[in-house]
Amino acid sequence: MILQLQEATDYIQQRIENFAPEFGIILGTGLGALVNELEVNHTISYDEIPYFPVSTVESHSGKLIFGLLAGRRVVVMQGRFHYYEGYSMEQVVFPVRVMRLLGVQKLFVSNAAGGLNPDFTTSELMIITDHINLQPSNPLIGKNLDELGLRFPDMSDVYDEHMVREAMVIGDDLGITLQEGVYVSVPGPMLETPAEYRYLRVIGADAVGMSTVPEVIAARHMGMPVFAVSVITDMCTPDRLKKVKLADILEAAAIAEPRMTALIAELIRRS
Ligand code: HPA
Repeated sequence: MILQLQEATDYIQQRIENFAPEFGIILGTGLGALVNELEVNHTISYDEIPYFPVSTVESHSGKLIFGLLAGRRVVVMQGRFHYYEGYSMEQVVFPVRVMRLLGVQKLFVSNAAGGLNPDFTTSELMIITDHINLQPSNPLIGKNLDELGLRFPDMSDVYDEHMVREAMVIGDDLGITLQEGVYVSVPGPMLETPAEYRYLRVIGADAVGMSTVPEVIAARHMGMPVFAVSVITDMCTPDRLKKVKLADILEAAAIAEPRMTALIAELIRRS
């Protein structure tokens, strides 16, 4: 695995020449417009990169985009990999590991999520302060990649407290309402039953989605500070639960997207 990661990294490095990204950004469902704010230097399709998985979800386009955001060098994953697509957990986190090998110092992650906390509203942003992993596996199962990190990485402070605090200040400064809470990651691809939503709330989650946690685990394994934000695309409390279609999720994500982009860009500017 380490050789495959190295080969992918070497290929990208040769394509981007001396452009060493400081920050990595993974964009969630319906949240790809952040790339319009980039001063783009290089774009590489996933299918050009050795060993890179290729995205299968229609709402994601698969590209690594290198450029400047708020004057800082970033690499953006436009389109991510989900376990429900049939990838192994190692494939899901392959790009995050490559980002680290490219020299990325901090990871920013976004996702679309269902709201479990009754105080939330559709299209609000929730800063993730902790998570619960209900995916059936995780990317650290198997032989430890000692070159990347420890066999038993600590998970007592997964989401960088300093960045969470800074984000709350930015929220005030820019007039963006920010919720904070716990994200639970489920395998999907089906949405949850009413009983499952009640269960997820009881175990302590504020939002539910099908991504993020595998990538975050891989990032923390490698010691990368992480900032993650959910866009609440549908409310899943017993009184507000409705049938949802992908189109509804994309519409709610589109409404929140400019706020999410402003928040991440400003956090990067101040990093
Ligand atoms: N459940 C799981 N994932 C989701 C949801 C949900 O309700 N909404 C958006 N992603």
